[in-house]
Amino acid sequence: MKLDLRKSLRLAQAAVTRNVPVYAHFGITHRCDLTCKMCGIWRYGNKKEELEIHEINEMAQRFARLGVVQTSIGGGEPFAYENVEEAAKCFVDAGINLRLLTNAVNVPKERFDKAIAYGVKNFSISLDSLYPARFDYICEFDGAWESAVSNMSYLAQQLHGKGGMLVINCVVSNLNLEELPDMVRFAQEIGFAISFLPIELLANSSDGVKNWEARFIRHRPEMGLSEGPQGQVGERVDRVYETLLRMKKDGAPILNSSPYLESSRVYLKTGRFPADGCDAGSLYFSVSPNGQFTICHRTSHGYKHILDPDFEEYFRSESYALQRKLEAGSCEGCMRACWIDTSSMFRTLQGFMETATLNLRPTGNPPVSAEEALSWARYDAPAPMPEAVG
Ligand SMILES: C[S@@+](CC[C@H](N)C(=O)[O-])C[C@H]1O[C@@H](n2cnc3c(N)ncnc32)[C@H](O)[C@@H]1O
Ligand code: SF4
Ligand code: SF4
Repeated sequence: MKLDLRKSLRLAQAAVTRNVPVYAHFGITHRCDLTCKMCGIWRYGNKKEELEIHEINEMAQRFARLGVVQTSIGGGEPFAYENVEEAAKCFVDAGINLRLLTNAVNVPKERFDKAIAYGVKNFSISLDSLYPARFDYICEFDGAWESAVSNMSYLAQQLHGKGGMLVINCVVSNLNLEELPDMVRFAQEIGFAISFLPIELLANSSDGVKNWEARFIRHRPEMGLSEGPQGQVGERVDRVYETLLRMKKDGAPILNSSPYLESSRVYLKTGRFPADGCDAGSLYFSVSPNGQFTICHRTSHGYKHILDPDFEEYFRSESYALQRKLEAGSCEGCMRACWIDTSSMFRTLQGFMETATLNLRPTGNPPVSAEEALSWARYDAPAPMPEAVG
């Protein structure tokens, strides 16, 4: 992330007060071209609810005035929004670091070219396995692996040395746990960093959990961790996360902070979320496709709309501060790296230093060719592909 003095001051202020919304997520659409096994967002795709470019532009101006340093545009699949490149430009022009989160599977290279020409230098692409068959199974789309990896290598070549950061987003589940160290090596080889997000499984409402995200998660019991040929859940998770922590210490491009990796290890073993509070609505916030402001990805619609004429005044008011505190304070927790790792970054010196080091260090490997990237495909063992349930 390239930082000017103004942005650096905002980050410093956020670190001291934890009350500057330095990060904002905009889910530009719920539409998607895929139907991934663990995700249900695509069911709610509705073009009619989405904002127009001039409204997104107004939103970007507001973000800048509120102090937002980094915005990610996700979804759904952002490239399902016909003008996402123009939408991204609104944020770039407002002086905000912009990241596009995409599955990259059916995205023509010309659309990446256009986004880059508009100033986008940061892309996160989802990849959950080095086994094409396993990834295609997760995405429910034949050829997804090959298409995503060839687009990754294309982006690495276009953006090498231009100051942006390319990231693989990998959802950790029963299907890929033992693959994570190799995923790090692959990311490093192709000029990417990597971020690991433990799978969120549908919470059990009979346990008194609110099930906020039930709409957006598909229940796939076979993706939850279980005992396997590699051992008990605890042993499997410890072995892999100890390796990841060691690799990170040795300089591997793992984006998650060490405190977050430790929390992920506990979550995967016990289902317990981090208990050290959450800064939703103060350090970060989220906006839905229709422009509804929420404090995080778990949509509660009790807040003003981002384009409401009074929004900025409201955001700075005592009543908002109280409302957001009550909501975040009564939440059962989550493991979303974009939110919880932002908290780790500002709550712990270790998290802050690690993120700063990773963001500021010069670009690593020169980009590999698409053939080299594709040669990491694995066919050596049968991929576990249990029957889909439910
Ligand atoms: C919802 S997608 C939106 C952007 C884009 N469509 C993509 O797949 O990268 C953002 C991230 O959420 C992850 N995700 C989806 N369902 C999840 C779940 N149940 N638990 C954890 N992460 C999930 C995806 O794998 C992806 O990396
Ligand atoms: S994870 Fe991304 S690509 Fe997959 S269905 Fe959800 S929104 Fe679409
Ligand atoms: S822990 Fe925070 S970021 Fe996560 S769902 Fe709860 S309020 Fe939102």
